[in-house]
Amino acid sequence: MTPRNVFRTLAVAEAITWLGLLAGMFVKYVVGTTEVGVQVAGPIHGVAFISYCLVTLVVAVDQQWSRGRTVLGLLSSVPPLMTVWFDRHVESRGGLDDHWHSRHDSETAGRRAVCWLLRHHRQAIVGFVVAVAALTGLALVAGPPVG
Ligand code: HEM
Repeated sequence: MTPRNVFRTLAVAEAITWLGLLAGMFVKYVVGTTEVGVQVAGPIHGVAFISYCLVTLVVAVDQQWSRGRTVLGLLSSVPPLMTVWFDRHVESRGGLDDHWHSRHDSETAGRRAVCWLLRHHRQAIVGFVVAVAALTGLALVAGPPVG
């Protein structure tokens, strides 16, 4: 798994789940028959959104994205399909490599942490799943910011 393909996978997955949510909203608000689509696609998109944001942070640290680029990457998860645009945008500016830059003796603690995750694959995956589950639970308990 390279930074490029792990980021792209999550960016595309996030966009696809957004399409599912839009389809659910179409049925709910335009067709007006059922809310089931939104009720199913909503949490799936929520998990994809949180996963995308976590992976964005890891890749941003490893690929040394600027703060602005990192924030843009995170914000791209909010409007539909923008993660795919952002992936292309970063790619065209050389921000997604096929190899990880983080080393155990990297200068920043963030990169040393990414190096640890890469070397401890199993723990990294378990930690990722636990973090996504915890954040999803928190989001579901907290509810939407308005309404
Ligand atoms: C920026 C991130 C997010 C955006 C833009 C977003 C957007 C939306 C939209 C537009 C809907 C449809 C609402 C409607 O029925 O009119 C929805 C539904 C839903 N979302 Fe999100 N969402 C986000 C993050 C999350 C997260 C983190 C979770 C937690 C897992 C989540 C869980 C849900 C659930 C459960 C529903 C279905 C609600 C229902 O049963 O009607 N969403 N979301």
